[in-house]
Amino acid sequence: MARKDLPKYTVPSLTKEEGAETARVLQTRLDALNDLALTLKHIHWNVVGPHFIAVHEMIDPQVDAVRLMVDAIAERIATLGGAPVGTPGALVAARTWDDYSIGRAGAIEHLGALDEVYVGVITDHRKAAADVEELDDVTNDLLIGHLHELELFHWFVRAHLESAGGSLSTDGAQTEKGAARAAGSAAK
Ligand SMILES: [Fe+2]
Repeated sequence: MARKDLPKYTVPSLTKEEGAETARVLQTRLDALNDLALTLKHIHWNVVGPHFIAVHEMIDPQVDAVRLMVDAIAERIATLGGAPVGTPGALVAARTWDDYSIGRAGAIEHLGALDEVYVGVITDHRKAAADVEELDDVTNDLLIGHLHELELFHWFVRAHLESAGGSLSTDGAQTEKGAARAAGSAAK
């Protein structure tokens, strides 16, 4: 990293290089969770069908919790001496995933797709937590704290897709649309 990209200061006991690298990892999580909060609201607005109210109301506490995670991540970047980037254009330019692909659809179809969304977000969040483990214990702890909640929310979603035998209707799906289809057919 060029010296001009280094923060002027960082938290005590980290080098500026360590602070900058930790902030870089955190920026990827800021983008992912900002995207997740918006996607959850989109689902909240677009669910239809017999399970509408249960899913519509289940989603809002997840939005609130994810927004708090976003705020904590952004403020950790600033604490480390970095500048959090929270604008939508920058998020879209930096992200490595596609926009959520489903509009108005049944609640179970959205939950099938949301299962895929959570798989992606949690996998990357765990990797980020591992990437900062040697750099900064406090950031590692922050990300692990998020995973407690994100994995719980993922289970709330998956419980709708689970059979009495314990298998998931979305098992083996590779895309949001494929997962939505699989979840929808299993519910018929
Ligand atoms: Fe609402």
